[in-house]
Amino acid sequence: MNHLLKLENLPSADLEKILRDTAVFKRDRGQHPAQPLAGQTWALMFSKQSTRTRLSFEVGIRELGGQPMFLSAVDIQLGRGEPIKDTARVMGRMVHGAVIRTFAQHDVEQFAEFSKIPTINALTDDEHPCQILADIFTFQEKRGSIKGKTVAFIGDGACNVANSWIWAAGKLGFSLRIAAPEKFQPSAELLKRAGGNISVTSNIQAAAQGADVLYTDVWISMGKEAETKERIQTLTGYQINAALVKLAKPDALVMHCLPAYRGKEIDEETLEAHADTIFEEAENRLHVQKAIMNWAAS
Ligand code: CP
Ligand code: NVA
Repeated sequence: MNHLLKLENLPSADLEKILRDTAVFKRDRGQHPAQPLAGQTWALMFSKQSTRTRLSFEVGIRELGGQPMFLSAVDIQLGRGEPIKDTARVMGRMVHGAVIRTFAQHDVEQFAEFSKIPTINALTDDEHPCQILADIFTFQEKRGSIKGKTVAFIGDGACNVANSWIWAAGKLGFSLRIAAPEKFQPSAELLKRAGGNISVTSNIQAAAQGADVLYTDVWISMGKEAETKERIQTLTGYQINAALVKLAKPDALVMHCLPAYRGKEIDEETLEAHADTIFEEAENRLHVQKAIMNWAAS
């Protein structure tokens, strides 16, 4: 049994196995002989909204032979204050795996400890590991190994998606440039712990110059709505658009985890010009999460 709680503690060998298995699950979709979740029920316990993550896990669990059960946190006693460790001990006796989207990273970790069933982080305030695994798979599918390449992350450099990119850079040996206003840059402590070839700047042009990937995420992550005004003021200009794309390599990929807010972190023209890549990333969530659940259940 394995948990995927954060990329930070996913061994590189396991990360690479998941990426290799993803290619097989994608290639063999509809005819894959393995049904590693046969006879199992997996719960999705979500405290935040979701389109892609919910869809891809529900479909993926079915395709692996299992049954998904969606639990909105507001509908269960957790939403009225029942502790996560009690919820975990109940669920651990009834279901075979859990996929959790919530605020505090600590809650996913405590759930795993008390439930004793495979537990997958489907986004917390700290990390979004499934997303970054799908992004890296998408890059490698289109451009080959990411090792030695340069990824430029533009926007809120202190968000969960940026954090997972930070941990992936050290494990897979690519360069990561984060372009963000000072207030939304990753902490020096995190960068020190993660190691790897990571630079941080407030200059988006410098970050984009010669990059293999231009990547962005929303300026206002779920849970940060109270900071909307300040974030829009501070992050305006941290946008992927045609002028920025011109600075990157001619065959650079433009990537976005979605949902996208046109006119904010990316403009309409650039999003539509790179829609093939961006929606392939979304599809690849399904394939990579099947590989993750197969690994977690083994
Ligand atoms: N990228 C992503 O996780 O999308 P959802 O919030 O729609 O699941
Ligand atoms: N950083 C964003 C990612 C959405 C998939 C959020 O947490 O809302």
